[in-house]
Amino acid sequence: MVDLELGGETPAAETDGVWLACVACSETVAPYDDVVYRCPDCGGLLEVRYAEYPTFDDFEGTGVWRYADALPLPTGVSIQEGNTPLYTVPEIEAGVDVADVRVKHEGMNPTGAFKDRGMTVGVKVAERLGVDRLACASTGNTSAALACYGARADTEVLVLLPAGKVAAGKIAQAALHGARILEVDGNFDACLDVVAELADRGEVYLLNSINPFRLEGQKTIGLEILEQSREATGEWPDRIVLPVGNAGNTAALYKCFRELVAAGAMDEAEMPALTGVQAEGAAPMVEAVREGNDEVRRWDDVETRATAIRIGNPVNAPKALPGIRATGGTAVAVSDDEITDAQRSLARDGVGVEPASAASVAGLRKLSERGEIGADEQVVCLTTGHLLKDPDAAAAAGGDTTPVPADADGVLDAL
Ligand code: F0G
Repeated sequence: MVDLELGGETPAAETDGVWLACVACSETVAPYDDVVYRCPDCGGLLEVRYAEYPTFDDFEGTGVWRYADALPLPTGVSIQEGNTPLYTVPEIEAGVDVADVRVKHEGMNPTGAFKDRGMTVGVKVAERLGVDRLACASTGNTSAALACYGARADTEVLVLLPAGKVAAGKIAQAALHGARILEVDGNFDACLDVVAELADRGEVYLLNSINPFRLEGQKTIGLEILEQSREATGEWPDRIVLPVGNAGNTAALYKCFRELVAAGAMDEAEMPALTGVQAEGAAPMVEAVREGNDEVRRWDDVETRATAIRIGNPVNAPKALPGIRATGGTAVAVSDDEITDAQRSLARDGVGVEPASAASVAGLRKLSERGEIGADEQVVCLTTGHLLKDPDAAAAAGGDTTPVPADADGVLDAL
């Protein structure tokens, strides 16, 4: 059973109308008394709950903290994250049979990925808990964001990365922002197993998306998409298509919608259909959705050019699977070549993204081709990371360079 019901009685264990609840057994836990990542009773995933849920009228300002009334703390460790653009993409829209396509480009955050939204909240909670060493396992972007926000908060940061499988831009960020970088002989899932054990031993404070506070910040992607779409088209989107790794964003978007329903600001039928996309070589969520399973089978061997989503054990699946089902969404796997084609198309529309991000557009194309998306639908694709995160993949997908002599005639001859 999964308990994702909001509302009801405020438990005794709360602080300022905020508490943690287990999505498996409904146990409640005080938010800031102890460091806790999973339910102390059953080990289930925890979710942040509130005595009150805000409506759109309660929001003011810009960026993630515009939505402070939907977040556990009034302020964060902030470097102006959020307020990312919602682009039109004429070439991509022309190639699919849907009414409207927009791209929400999360690569336009301070460190070039959506992770900043989670870290502005998570690192502030770490400060409040008084922990002194932050850590994560990462395919790259989480480590870059944690290094940056940890530096801003003047706190030690440790990152565990799968050796040889992290894009150059991301390692450069973690290095320059001063994180201690450990390259693990294993894939991302193995890194997460190790860092979770370090967290259980009290050695580090874990800021992977299993930490429920991070997903609170990532909820604001949904709030921005809804507000920007209504501003641009007069309507909320029918569908949000997003790349899936640990399924943190999928879980966060579903929580965003559930809270709006609880606040009376959205009807259940208006929740955009959450549509997850994975690479064929790392698609355990797609498998679970296709087979109608309640649990996701861990894939031990994963491989894809989209290294950000090279993940075989999506830890947020118990929160995300019900979201895909309840919103009428689905999940689809795309090949690495389809990802690169989508990356090139996005680039031609002026949107530079890393491979994992392009998976969303590749997924939209595939579902549209199969007739699984209605021609009347308004769709938002989430692009999660910036082109410069993975310069090698971008160079490989782009055109070649031409050597020329240093004179105008020589340049014209070469054209
Ligand atoms: N896109 C990008 C660019 C990512 O970096 C990630 C996850 C995802 C999509 C998947 O998001 O986990 O919420 O389903 N990157 C993590 C990291 C694992 O370590 O940077 P999810």
